[in-house]
Amino acid sequence: MQFLLENGFDVTVSAAETILADFRDEMRKGLAGEGTLPMLVSPFPMRQRPPRDCEVPAFDVGGTNVRSARVVFNAGGRAEIRNMLRGRMPGSQGLVDKAAFYKTLCDVLQPNIRAGETMGYCFSYPATNDGTLLFWTKGIQAPGIVGTNVVKGLTEALDAAGIPGCRMTILNDTVAALLAACTYRPDAEETCAGHVGFILGTGTNAAYGERGALISKHPGLDPEMLYPVNCESGNFTRFPRSRFDELYEAESGNGKGVWERCFSGVHLGPLGTIILREAAGAGLLSPGVSDFVRSRTFTNPELDDFCAGRTPDLFPCGADEAATLVKLIRPIYIRAARFAAVNVAAAALQAADARGAYTGTFRINIDGSTFWKTAAVPFLHLFTEQLTALLRPRSFSSRIIHIDDAPLIGAALAVN
Ligand code: BGC
Repeated sequence: MQFLLENGFDVTVSAAETILADFRDEMRKGLAGEGTLPMLVSPFPMRQRPPRDCEVPAFDVGGTNVRSARVVFNAGGRAEIRNMLRGRMPGSQGLVDKAAFYKTLCDVLQPNIRAGETMGYCFSYPATNDGTLLFWTKGIQAPGIVGTNVVKGLTEALDAAGIPGCRMTILNDTVAALLAACTYRPDAEETCAGHVGFILGTGTNAAYGERGALISKHPGLDPEMLYPVNCESGNFTRFPRSRFDELYEAESGNGKGVWERCFSGVHLGPLGTIILREAAGAGLLSPGVSDFVRSRTFTNPELDDFCAGRTPDLFPCGADEAATLVKLIRPIYIRAARFAAVNVAAAALQAADARGAYTGTFRINIDGSTFWKTAAVPFLHLFTEQLTALLRPRSFSSRIIHIDDAPLIGAALAVN
């Protein structure tokens, strides 16, 4: 649509190759402790084999939900999730203080952990290896937790609840997805070029395995081993932004998560709303619809359902204007699929370099509702098309994997 182009919204992502090169440049800088990407390195090396005959408590603090379970690995190393319990992520629906935050976490976790056990703790926010929360993303409102240690906080809360002496291995959800990907065995023979854990849900991020020798900011690592790196790729900044992205940043951004704000679930609704308001300002919409789009902020599920034809009555208009609205909104989903592919390609090519691979198939474990549930466009197809365009000329291909409950399984894998 001309209006989108005029405002710098490039739905075809014509600069994909340049963005990919800049992404990789930022990743390398991050490994040296420079640039914009945190590139948080896990203290444990990657392992290719799952543990056998054991049971591990696992906890997943995600963007929308908190889940706990017992993960049982059988004699063949196959993981089974038992007694999964859920709650809402504290701070996702309004401001919470420290006490309320840990109370919700403990309520969900308590039935699945016993005194003295070691638990896998998947925490889907930027945190250091010892568990210090750097900042919240995904709009979580719990300011009292920022800068504090979420492992210490939870251990103390469990202590107070009568479950003392627990230990925790904390990891990011992308690292959990990465570890789960490493245990995946394809039916057919293929040369594995590397693994990636990618999330596109409420937020977005990627992880891959980097060679210790190439992580110059941590000289103490074993130079031969591969270590999971949580890129916190949502903080990437070197890509062309549209005027709508800039307006959204000016309205509610803080300079962090600039890439994430352009295509993850929690942001697509407000971003789409801005596009509609600007279209109204440019006289592209009827007075009734213009007033309506100015009266409220739409959520991602609302816009997605509308574009998928599930809720044709969302806007007060006839079929012709509804078609215009779809033309305005659908491009945010097309661009999201392409941005996701560029992001994954960057992590995958880093993984290949780390392994010294020049050809082969990447095993890419993807989790998240925006990736798997978006119905406005054929998301997986668009993603794969863009990814293939970036990988094939470099002699690589990809296998997209979706492992159920990857955050809990990956958390359990990190313990053993
Ligand atoms: C967080 C990451 C997380 C990603 C996907 C982002 O908002 O900063 O730590 O991996 O969302 O859940």
